[in-house]
Formats: sequence, structure tokens, C-alpha cells
Amino acid sequence: MARADIEWTDEFLIGIAELDHEHRALVRDINRLHGALRSHDEPARIEETLGEILARMQAHFALEESVMKEHAYPHYAEHKAEHEALLDTVTGFIVRFEKEGEDVAEALEESLDEWIIDHIVTHDRKMSLMVKG
Ligand SMILES: [Fe+2]
Repeated sequence: MARADIEWTDEFLIGIAELDHEHRALVRDINRLHGALRSHDEPARIEETLGEILARMQAHFALEESVMKEHAYPHYAEHKAEHEALLDTVTGFIVRFEKEGEDVAEALEESLDEWIIDHIVTHDRKMSLMVKG
């Protein structure tokens, strides 16, 4: 069973325009993956979407890390370590998807859904409160 789309809500806004913009794009990409899996698109297309999600995550984390550095954010190391762990997790899933196909898709989707919401609502909100503080 493939998963439903994430519904964007304004609770996801953290008040830093460039990061909010990227969070929307990430949610859109993850929803594109959900749609592709629901309609059983070809594995090659799904892998392409996964590659795009990973690239967007990398770019997003790099921007976030530069915002944190600029503001001498005290939890920088912790937040950066979280980014690295996430990239490892998603990369691991992509490798598994390439081998195991749709069997691994649901775990991958669940992990992306949980990640994006936790990332925005917990970690990024905490950061934005201090950075904007
Ligand atoms: Fe973020």
C-alpha cells in the first residue's frame, strides 16, 4: 500500500523565507514520489525522483548549515550531524530500492514523511526561533 500525500499546512512555516520555500519544494518532491508509487511508475522513473529528493535535501542542508553558521547557532554540530544521518538513511534506502524495488518503498516513504515533518516542525523551528530571536 502506497502512502497518501503529505498535506502542506502553515504550521510547517518557520519564518525564514528561503528555507520555507525549500521545505515546500521538498514536500512537493516527496508527494511526487508517493504519486509515482501509487501509480506503479517504472522503477527507473522512481529512482530518478529519489535522486532528485536526495539532491534537494543536500542543497537544503547546505543552505541551512550556512544560515546556522552565519548566526553562530549553538546547536550547529548537533543539527549538522542530524543532516548527515538523514542523508545516510535516504541513500541506504535508495540503494535498497534499486535492488528490492517496491518491497522497500513503503518503509522509504514512511521514513521520508516522518523525517520531513520532524525536521521542519522540531529542528528547524527551534533553529529559526534562535536565529531570528
Ligand atoms: Fe530544513
